[in-house]
Amino acid sequence: MADTILVTGGAGYIGSHIVVELAQAGYAPVVLDNFANSSPAVLPRLEALAGRRVPCIEGDVRDVAALRRVFHDHAIAAVIHCAGLKAVGESGERPLAYYDVNVAGSLALAEAMGEAGVTTLVFSSSATVYGQPERLPVAEDAPVAPNSVYGRTKLVVEDFLRDLAPAGPNWRIAILRYFNPAGAHPSGTIGEAPLGRPNNLVPLLCRIAGGEFAELSIFGRDWPTPDGTGVRDYLHVQDLAEGHIAAMKYLARTPGVATFNLGVGRGFSVLEVVAAFERACGRTIPRQFAPRRAGDIACVYADPARANASFGWRAARGLDSICADAWRWQAGGGKY
Ligand SMILES: NC(=O)c1ccc[n+]([C@@H]2O[C@H](COP(=O)([O-])OP(=O)(O)OC[C@H]3O[C@@H](n4cnc5c(N)ncnc54)[C@H](O)[C@@H]3O)[C@@H](O)[C@H]2O)c1
Repeated sequence: MADTILVTGGAGYIGSHIVVELAQAGYAPVVLDNFANSSPAVLPRLEALAGRRVPCIEGDVRDVAALRRVFHDHAIAAVIHCAGLKAVGESGERPLAYYDVNVAGSLALAEAMGEAGVTTLVFSSSATVYGQPERLPVAEDAPVAPNSVYGRTKLVVEDFLRDLAPAGPNWRIAILRYFNPAGAHPSGTIGEAPLGRPNNLVPLLCRIAGGEFAELSIFGRDWPTPDGTGVRDYLHVQDLAEGHIAAMKYLARTPGVATFNLGVGRGFSVLEVVAAFERACGRTIPRQFAPRRAGDIACVYADPARANASFGWRAARGLDSICADAWRWQAGGGKY
């Protein structure tokens, strides 16, 4: 029988792609989501892509009683924990909510997992824990210095998981530090559907090309980068989803806790991404330059060698696929 995998936040952007990938790899995904930043309308699309029923429990990851019921009702073999709040700017305005959902939610999940004897966990962390790295590419043993409340909540959970693993003989935990996930499922039926003005570059380009917003503001043209605009490591969400399956399989043969970067290993500037997106959509993106934003950093890209050496993962898709798939999702409406 197929192993059942619980995906918290499985209705969200990254979680939904993981659910589809799990089903295609022969697993039986189960979703827990409170739809704080997603819609139940994604579910029939997930089932269509997965080719199987995907049970979804509407519930809060902070609710231990609800989690106990999930573990009672389903024979869960492992958990992929994507549920959380992720807007860097908002995290400074609502620190209590971010610590509550991201930190208390992870504690509640670990408690319910421990009680149920489910000890395999893949955790969605973020490259934002590095802040501006001293050396590039950034490897997992680089110093951590998150420059936002959001980033600090991720680091608190990472530290907690590194303390939890040695306290029991069976914990198998992979902490995945994502760089900049972008793009959509190549079917164009699931993708990133932010409410309001998107915070991330690719969804914003989608909405500008789709006519919803007038122009792109590029924050800073004097960063110490080749064209003066910020450089990030953009990772196709399908590659990211595949990384979770590979990490889970790795945990089946490796107890303990380990941290992995998931990134491509090279950076693209804002202007390079805009040019790639214009090629994908065949439209011009109006843009203007604006002053740097406080807390922004110049350049980050991953050293993904550890994930490759440990579980054979490498990003297979490039920036043009990211833009083409994101635009296909947008052209189909880009929303649920
Ligand atoms: N998207 C990125 O750029 C990025 C980068 C690095 C790390 N991450 C992390 O990856 C994870 C998934 O991110 P995403 O981009 O898919 O975000 P998302 O907002 O699309 O997905 C998160 C999901 O969690 C759900 N959720 C929020 N609070 C919940 C709660 N209390 N109980 C149950 N469900 C809850 C939301 O409804 C949503 O469906 C997050 O933990 C995020 O911090 C994302």
